This record gives sequence, structure tokens and C-alpha cells, in this order.
Amino acid sequence: MKIFITGGAGFIGSNFVEYILGMHPSYKITVFDKMTYASNPDTIREFRKNKNFSFIKGDILDAAHVNRAVKGYDWVVNFAAETHVDRSILGPEAFIETNIKGTFNLLEASRKSGVKKFLQISTDEVYGSVAKGKSRETDTLDPTSPYSASKTSADLIALSYFKTFSLPVLITRSSNNFGPRQHPEKFIPLFITNTIEGKQLPIYGDGKNVRNWIYVGDNCSGLDTVLHKGIPGEIYNIGGDTEEPNIKVAKCILESFCAPDRLLKRVKDRLAHDRRYALDSSKLKKLGWKPENNFEQGMALTIKWYANNTNWWLELKGSAFKKYCKKNYGARP
Ligand code: NAD
Ligand code: DAU
Repeated sequence: MKIFITGGAGFIGSNFVEYILGMHPSYKITVFDKMTYASNPDTIREFRKNKNFSFIKGDILDAAHVNRAVKGYDWVVNFAAETHVDRSILGPEAFIETNIKGTFNLLEASRKSGVKKFLQISTDEVYGSVAKGKSRETDTLDPTSPYSASKTSADLIALSYFKTFSLPVLITRSSNNFGPRQHPEKFIPLFITNTIEGKQLPIYGDGKNVRNWIYVGDNCSGLDTVLHKGIPGEIYNIGGDTEEPNIKVAKCILESFCAPDRLLKRVKDRLAHDRRYALDSSKLKKLGWKPENNFEQGMALTIKWYANNTNWWLELKGSAFKKYCKKNYGARP
């Protein structure tokens, strides 16, 4: 089996590569990644030690390169995206380009080269904020931010390739992931690393926005299940069992370090901040999947990883990151 994985140098993509190399030792993996600020070269260096791994530096917006690179692979898994909601509010264009046009380029290349499965990695944010109940795969799509709208567009284009060209497209929509190697711009790693540094934790608005958290390893096992047992043309939600308001997660992080609540700082709310996400994952559970880590176990693993890998995140929070943000977004979100 030969798998072409875009965005495999980022957070979920790199955890997925690690998972597949461990679970399926005969599979050959190629990561195709532009290596934006969200990626990490050290991760790729580590993977290169495995003979079943190869790497191509490339941009999914470069259609000619994508067409050449995809040839000969059985499966394509598309993680590559601009992923941070706050950045999509500061500078939406990169999201529209990468998440929509980039996905289109990959679909076209996959269609031409006869790929046997195309897995589009999507998000629960396509359903928008849900006041009550849980989102199911058949629910109306109601994205809020330029990020979630771009992901919704990509989902619809991917499905059109299944309906029109019979490209075997599968879509997964997962809830908020947390775990090793997530960029410290995101809530949980930002709050863990700020606590370690003794810095304030900027909580948006009243802190009562609810997210449905899943440990990244459980998302990876869900993706593996969908790739092996999912039906082309279908969408699968991958949600964790925990729904928590941000303030509770923040306090849990502070408690883990015996740090004082005064580090919490209420800041201006995100524009059009979705109040709650919640996923119904019963469709995927029928294929035999279930999450193995509850929130407390996942948090313990995550905190340990950030505490033991300070060099990894200190570099990302450092000057190169700040320069990149200034150039591309005018400011650091
Ligand atoms: P990330 O930001 O950590 O990583 C994104 C990766 O994509 C990086 O390695 C980056 O270099 C690469 N990339 C960006 N633009 C590219 C381009 N033009 N060409 C090639 N590579 C490019 O993202 P993540 O959090 O790991 O998310 C991965 C996927 O999962 C995304 O599609 C995201 O929408 C989706 N998702 C994420 C979450 C979450 O909680 N993190 C939840 C649901 C869905
Ligand atoms: O739900 C899946 C989505 O989860 C993915 O599709 C996105 O790629 C991923 O970035 C994530 O989006 P969120 O906006 O939910 O995640 P973020 O980590 O940015 O924020 C989580 C919550 O914490 C949200 O309610 C905003 C809040 N927050 C975030 C930051 C960065 C704060 O209160 N303070 C912060 O500094």
C-alpha cells in the first residue's frame, strides 16, 4: 500500500504518519508538505529513519507539482490546510487559496492518476455552533469563520468528485484534537506552555464556549478505520467523549502545574466565536471504532509531552514565528 499524505509535517498529520508506520509496517508513506510555520522539520527528520517513509517539499497550490507527485499512489490523505480560526479572521485569503484551491488541485491530480481512495480531512466546524444535541453527518452545514467556510467548500467539492467522476472520496469531520506536536498558537498548547513560562492565559470572552475534545491518537485510529472500512462517498464524524467549557480546561491545566488562577486573563472575544461544538460519532462506532483515551488520560500525556519538549515549542514561539506572522498577517494573533 502506498499512501500520499499532504500536511504530514503538521500536528494531526505527523501523529497519523507515526500511527500508520507503527500499525501497518508494510505500508509506504510519502509526506507532501509546504513546511509552513505550522510544520516542524525535526518531525520529518525523525520519520526519515524509517525506510518506508519519504518526503517531498511541495505546495498543494502548485498544480503541476501535485500532478507529478501523486502518480503511482493507492491512497491520498489530505491534511494540508491553513487551520487557525483567529488567523482566518486576520487574513482570510490564504485559507480560501490553500483549503479550497489546494484541495481542488489534489482532487484533479487524484482523478487523473486513478487513486483508489481519497480521504479529505474535515472538521466539526462545518456544522457551525450547535446550541443543543450533537451534529450528525446529514445535518445542514452552517460554517461561521472564513476557516470553517473554506473547509465546508472543500467538503462539497470533494463530494462532487465522488458524484461526478466516481473518485472514491471519503470525508472525516473530527472535533478539537489535542496532544503532542500541536502548534502553541492553539488553545491547549498555548495554555500549557504559558503556564510553564509563568505567563498569563488569555481566555476569550466569558470562557464558557464549549469544545468537544479528542486525543489525537484516537482521531488517528478513527482515520485508519475509515480508510480501511469506510464506504466511498460517505462522511464520518470523529468526536471525543468530552465536552468542556474553555474555562474548565484552563483551570485543569493550572491545577496540573499547581499554578494560581490569577494567571487567567479575560481578553476580548473572538469575532463570531462559535459557542459550542458537539459530534455524534455513532456512524463510525458502527465500524468498530471507539476512543481509547478519556480527557484526563489525554491531558496527562499532552502535558508530559510539552513539559519534556520545551525546545520544540520555545522555538515555535520565538522570533522566526513572530516575523512570519508580521509578514503574512500584519500581527501575531
Ligand atoms: P496544522 O496547522 O498543525 O498543520 C497543517 C500542515 O499543512 C502543516 O504541516 C503545513 O505545513 C501544511 N500545509 C499548509 N499549507 C500547505 C500547502 N499549501 N501545501 C502543502 N502543505 C501545506 O494542522 P492540524 O491541526 O494538524 O490539522 C490538519 C487537518 O485537520 C486540517 O485539514 C484541519 O482542517 C483538520 N482538523 C484539525 C482539527 C484540530 O483540532 N487541529 C480538528 C478537525 C479537523
Ligand atoms: O473543532 C475543530 C477545530 O478545532 C479545527 O478545525 C481547527 O483547525 C482547530 O484550530 C480548532 O479550532 P478552535 O477555534 O476550536 O480551536 P482553538 O484552539 O483556536 O480554540 C479553542 C477554544 O479556545 C475556542 O473556543 C477559542 C478559545 N481560545 C483560543 C485561544 C487560542 C481562548 O480562549 N484563548 C486563546 O488564546
